[in-house]
Amino acid sequence: MFSKFVSFLVLFVAVLPGMTQPREAIDFNGDWFFTLEDDLQFRRADFSPTNWKKVSLPHDWSIGFDFGEEYPAGNAGGALPGGVGWYRKTFQLPEKDKGSHYILYFGGVYRYAEVWINGKYLGKNINGYLSFEHDLTPHLRYGKEQNVIAVRVDNSLQPNSRWYTGSGIYRDVRLEKRSSVHLLREETFITTPEVSTEKSVLRVQSAFNQNTAGQVRKVALKLQDKNKKTVAEKTITLSDNRFEDELEVSDIALWTPDNPTLYDLHITVLDHTNNVLDVLQYQVGFRFFHFDEQKGFSLNGEPFKLLGVCLHHDLGALGAAFNKSAAKRQLLMMKDMGVNAIRTAHNPPAEEFLDLCDELGFLVQNEAYDMWAKRKNKFDYHLDFKEHHIDDLISLVKRDRNHPSVFMWSIGNEIREQFDSTGIAFTKKMTEVVKKLDPTRPVTAALTETNYDKNFIAQAGVLDVLGFNYKYFDYDKLPTEFKGVPLIASETTSALQTRGVYDSVQDTLQLWPASSQDKFVTNGNPDFTVSAYDNVAAYWGTSHERAWIEVKKRDFLGGIFVWTGFDYLGEPVPYPYPARSSYYGIVDLAGLPKDVYYMYQSEWTDTDVLHLLPHWNWKEGEQVDVWCYYNNADEVELFLNGHSLGRRSKTEDKLHAEWKVPFEAGELKVTKIKDGAVVQEVVKKTAGKPVDIVVNVEHDRYAVDGKTDLHFLTVSLVDENGTVVPDNDVELSFIPQDNITIVGTDNGYQADLHSLSSAKRDTYKGLAVAIAQKHNSEKEAKIIIKSNTIEKEIRIK
Ligand code: GAL
Repeated sequence: MFSKFVSFLVLFVAVLPGMTQPREAIDFNGDWFFTLEDDLQFRRADFSPTNWKKVSLPHDWSIGFDFGEEYPAGNAGGALPGGVGWYRKTFQLPEKDKGSHYILYFGGVYRYAEVWINGKYLGKNINGYLSFEHDLTPHLRYGKEQNVIAVRVDNSLQPNSRWYTGSGIYRDVRLEKRSSVHLLREETFITTPEVSTEKSVLRVQSAFNQNTAGQVRKVALKLQDKNKKTVAEKTITLSDNRFEDELEVSDIALWTPDNPTLYDLHITVLDHTNNVLDVLQYQVGFRFFHFDEQKGFSLNGEPFKLLGVCLHHDLGALGAAFNKSAAKRQLLMMKDMGVNAIRTAHNPPAEEFLDLCDELGFLVQNEAYDMWAKRKNKFDYHLDFKEHHIDDLISLVKRDRNHPSVFMWSIGNEIREQFDSTGIAFTKKMTEVVKKLDPTRPVTAALTETNYDKNFIAQAGVLDVLGFNYKYFDYDKLPTEFKGVPLIASETTSALQTRGVYDSVQDTLQLWPASSQDKFVTNGNPDFTVSAYDNVAAYWGTSHERAWIEVKKRDFLGGIFVWTGFDYLGEPVPYPYPARSSYYGIVDLAGLPKDVYYMYQSEWTDTDVLHLLPHWNWKEGEQVDVWCYYNNADEVELFLNGHSLGRRSKTEDKLHAEWKVPFEAGELKVTKIKDGAVVQEVVKKTAGKPVDIVVNVEHDRYAVDGKTDLHFLTVSLVDENGTVVPDNDVELSFIPQDNITIVGTDNGYQADLHSLSSAKRDTYKGLAVAIAQKHNSEKEAKIIIKSNTIEKEIRIK
């Protein structure tokens, strides 16, 4: 129904070497003081805090607590406290910088952030997921005088979310120094109206913060590849406070998830004497795409199934505090599984998350809202929706429209207004607002109502693509019910699993809870676990295999977004407290893959997959379901202690092989057979007593800048042969010795009630993860990991 959506780009702003510093982003994350008390005195410049805690941003105060039933967010909100907190930071500015322009940028504060500079009130930010700025310039002191920033953060109204939000200044803060005349990032829009490898066109438009008459003379546009080779450049002489111009480029590489080629665009502003007044830098990717109501999605002219996952914003044991290397770890695990698209459920992500998606190659559906004027929780954004939703939408689109990864905007998830006529007006208005700021991307919403007559969001008739959540049994009626509009499976699955837990497989899919009559499962496991065979789902969902099979076979569906890539804090369906984190993830909260990860990898990649489950520690004679995920082969053969238990293969309707095997201790082996030859094999052994730990430290792949990098330590509890012991867990203490801090620990178990910031953690089904941060990234660090009987020193180069 519309043709091509073409576009491109961003990172931000850097100081170029050898220039007067026209624009400088000063890292403002260090040396803040924090308290969880509330007193308006704290805003005053002359207030002097005693007993406040020194913190670095990003900071989430909720995550440091033990989980508890008493917190009003409930277990759906993560069973952690909210409250009101204050932050203060003092700083000085040199006399010589008088005359510069200073902007204080906040990447995101949850929630209701009020900011003061030197006692002067700057304003209140409402939306907890968007960035905002304050102009400090008129209020600053220079020379020996101190400046004081005070921020009051109010997350006391609870419950205000269906998942864990975190509390505090949980994204980056920067102080930006600019020339008094500078370009506005929010007015800068970079598009690619023509894209092909032979000839592409890059269009750049931007505007200045003030009248530039007599000050600015020229704007130089330069596009370079990653080897710094200039591929196009142009200098424009200005006659206005805005400009729009184009660069023609030939022989470029297109941006794709497999090959996310980026170029750097420098926009340099020069005055009459060729002094540099400002420089903006963006990452540009050239790609075009198209949604077709029959053929689905195509990228750069080729058919392309969107293989997506939905992700919430928390980073497990780090809570909501954004960390780029932790986000990179999540994204690379998704990449290895074959994911090429992400839906940021159900709110805008950190800007740095989008930078990663640009660089690593993910198409991003950027979602604005989980509710409009009608609430899902008593104190959620519905309270502010009427007054703020248009401004917030504008701020979102202006913030993110220059990322090549962002390919569509979602104005909402399962919005209640889809069921009444107010949905029509809201949908029309919001779509119009988005289109005006960005005509290059489709606007969508994630819907549940599959009858056109009852779906007032679809009836608005303005959405470019309709997303449907769940109800795969209705897929075939959608093209006739919602004629002429391209479709995606915007949310699927909601299967439930605890990593490493295996209950015998029932003949039919288990629905936990069974229906809308029950809030919780009535016949669940006493320890709040769910079996990791792909055979349990919430009643509105289905198994991973079923959901993927149903999307895979229908070309008219542009793609799938599985709920969810990772477990997240909150929404622990199907259990009440003490369950406090979700069971939906393909990967658990600690970042350890559940078995079904390999089903996706076998379907979505060419990587050779052969994955056998469960572990091999059972009671003699017990009947065990043995499953195997594989690809690139004709069949697989299972052997127990050397005896063949038969060959099996997967089918179009079953994406794993399976056997029922009476347990016998020893060795279970599966071989993969292609053209009659064994091409791969995997062995599971019965484990004995735990006698040692094996520690795998991951860092280099997730490195981003040295300073904020994290080290991820996966600890396996093993027997004397090095086999992981799945049924004899121990408590581990992580004791930093030198140059390192433990920032979090986890084991993926959804009902573990110890704070995720604790340096002690039980292994769960033989595994645990610690997240550590070096003080000095150049130097070696040392940690001791210890249980009652095992002790090991780990050195990290
Ligand atoms: C969906 C909803 C998600 C999540 C999921 C759990 O209906 O959009 O946010 O709640 O259910 O199954």
